[in-house]
Amino acid sequence: MTPPTGGAKPDLSVQIAGIHLKNPILAASGTFGYGIEFEDVVQLEKLGGFVVKGLSREPMTGNPPPRLFETAAGMLNAIGLQNIGARAFLEEKLPLLRQKKDTVLIANVFGFTREDYEQTIEILNEGEGIAAYELNVSCPNTAHGGIVFGSAPLMLEDVVITAKRASRRPLIVKLSPNVTSIAQMAQVAEAGGADAISLVNTFVAMAIDVETRKTRISNVTAGLSGPAIKPIAVRMVHEAANAVKIPVIGMGGISTAADVIEFMLAGATAVQIGTASYWDPCATEKIVDEVERWCIEHRVARLADLVGGVVID
Ligand SMILES: Cc1cc2nc3c(=O)[nH]c(=O)nc-3n(C[C@H](O)[C@H](O)[C@H](O)COP(=O)(O)O)c2cc1C
Repeated sequence: MTPPTGGAKPDLSVQIAGIHLKNPILAASGTFGYGIEFEDVVQLEKLGGFVVKGLSREPMTGNPPPRLFETAAGMLNAIGLQNIGARAFLEEKLPLLRQKKDTVLIANVFGFTREDYEQTIEILNEGEGIAAYELNVSCPNTAHGGIVFGSAPLMLEDVVITAKRASRRPLIVKLSPNVTSIAQMAQVAEAGGADAISLVNTFVAMAIDVETRKTRISNVTAGLSGPAIKPIAVRMVHEAANAVKIPVIGMGGISTAADVIEFMLAGATAVQIGTASYWDPCATEKIVDEVERWCIEHRVARLADLVGGVVID
C-alpha cells in the first residue's frame, strides 16, 4: 500500500536555538544517565538528541534512599542531583560520547549560587561536542535563603544573564513549573538572553505511607513526573509559547506519539521524554518510530508545520 504521504518519508527535523535536530525527540535530563549508559538499549543516533544528567561544579552524592516512589500514573523522585561533576564529565564521559557523531548532546547545568552556574559552564566550555547548555533553575539559591532560582523573576533574570555571558554555546533555560505565572518566567528567561526555554521540570509533591506514617521519600518532598502531570505541562507549554518568540521544548508525561503531537500543537518545537524511560528503557527510540508512523497515517509531510497548531474555537 502506498503511504498517504506519497511514499516519501515525512520530514521530522526541527531547529532549536540554531541546532538542527533530525527529529524533535530528546531524552530528558536525569532519566538517561550520561547517554553512554543507554547505548546498548537505545540507538542513540535515532534520537533527535539527549540531555545528560544535571552537572555541577563539584561531584554530588545525592540524597539517602528511598529516593524514588511510584504514584498513580507518575513517579516521585528526590535523587538530590547526584552527579560526577563537570570536570569528571569532560574527562570520563565526553570522550566516549564524542565518538557518537550523529547525535546532539545537551549538557544540563545546575548550581546553588550564581557563581556555581558560571563556573560549571566555564569548565564545560572547554569540552568539545556539547551542542548547548540546559540551565536547571529549579535549585535553591543558598546565597538568598534557599529561594528557588526559577521561582523569583529577579533571581531568574540574574542567573540567566550570568549563564549567557559565560556560555560559548546556545542556552536553553529549563523553567520550574512551581510558579504562579509561567508566562512571566518565560519572558524573564527570554529577556535574560535564553536562546530557547524548556519546560516542565517536576512538580513539588509528597507521599506518606499510612501504615508506618513515614514519608515515602527520605527528603520528605520530591518531584512528581510522568503521565500524571501531562495535562498541566501541556497547559504551561501553551502559555509559555504564547508569551515568547524563542523556541519551546516541552515535556512532562510524554509516553506516546500522540503525546508528542499534543505538545507540539500546544507550541513546543521539540520535546523531551523522561519518566517513560524508567518503564521502558527503549521508550525514546520507539516513540521516534511511532511519530514517523503517525505522520504517515495523518498525511503530515513536515512535522514542524504542526508547532502551535492547536485549534481554539
Ligand atoms: C529521576 C529523575 C531525575 C531527574 N533529574 C533531573 C536533573 O538532573 N536535571 C533536570 O533539569 N531535570 C531532572 N529531572 C526532570 C526531568 O528531566 C523532566 O523535566 C521531568 O521528569 C518531566 O518529564 P517526564 O514526566 O517525562 O519525566 C529528573 C526527573 C527524574 C524522574
